[in-house]
Amino acid sequence: MRRLEGKAALIPGAARGIGKAFAEAYLREGASVAIADINLKGAQATAAELGSGAIAVEMDVTKQESIDAAIAKTIAAFGKIDILINNAALFTAAPIVEITREDYNRVFDINFAGTLFTLQAVARHMIERGGGGKIINMASQAGRRGEALVAVYCATKAAIISLTQSAGLNLIEHGINVNAIAPGVVDGEHWDGVDAFFAKYEHKAPGQKRREVGEAVPYGRMGRAEDLTGMAVFLASNEAEYIVAQTYNVDGGNWMS
Ligand SMILES: NC(=O)c1ccc[n+]([C@@H]2O[C@H](COP(=O)([O-])OP(=O)(O)OC[C@H]3O[C@@H](n4cnc5c(N)ncnc54)[C@H](O)[C@@H]3O)[C@@H](O)[C@H]2O)c1
Repeated sequence: MRRLEGKAALIPGAARGIGKAFAEAYLREGASVAIADINLKGAQATAAELGSGAIAVEMDVTKQESIDAAIAKTIAAFGKIDILINNAALFTAAPIVEITREDYNRVFDINFAGTLFTLQAVARHMIERGGGGKIINMASQAGRRGEALVAVYCATKAAIISLTQSAGLNLIEHGINVNAIAPGVVDGEHWDGVDAFFAKYEHKAPGQKRREVGEAVPYGRMGRAEDLTGMAVFLASNEAEYIVAQTYNVDGGNWMS
């Protein structure tokens, strides 16, 4: 028996990487999935690759009208939204004395405000429908403690853990479970950018940081997007009914809390 049969999911940032793996896993479990992304061409290619049950939706989580339009398009296609994964985010790094207001605003706008206002808009729909729902936010091990060169990104992810607690406590009375996943280091295109930041600021050779973080994981390697799908399916399923306002580490043992 498929675990998400008949459910409809919206996944911002699903054109590639972890969001794409989530979409694939949800489709396998019987859900319909809106592959939402600021990169519409990428979302269309991913939806075409994943096939029946997937649609592509243009969505910029920093713009309220784009959030509302993406939600309306998903509801028009599937009749409802049962599951939201707030997955869109950007990484940034800089020493404290080099952080700019521009970068701070840009990254908080996507990672935190994007999550908050997408969650809010989908929660309004779920409350109006009256059938409850599942909302999963993407935190990170970066939200568990600060890192010397990663102040802004770490702070956005700590804020996601806090938002997950507040929204989880506020929305459970409507049968909406809000929880989060905190990955460790997950290989993919995202890490091309991360590796480049560390090459610049820690004077490392290209690829060196990626190798080092993988070797430091207790499990013995970097994560793969597929390593996170079990938790994403579980938190979206009926089995997770009694789980409220939690953030789960899925990181090969990098962090314990
Ligand atoms: N890869 C890792 O090591 C890692 C570790 C911990 C947490 N995470 C988190 O997991 C999530 C997915 O990460 P990933 O590695 O797949 O990243 P990624 O960069 O590969 O994918 C992010 C996607 O978000 C989209 N996006 C960017 N800005 C957007 C916007 N304004 N509106 C809508 N979509 C937008 C991008 O086009 C892209 O398709 C993120 O929240 C990230 O912070 C990743």
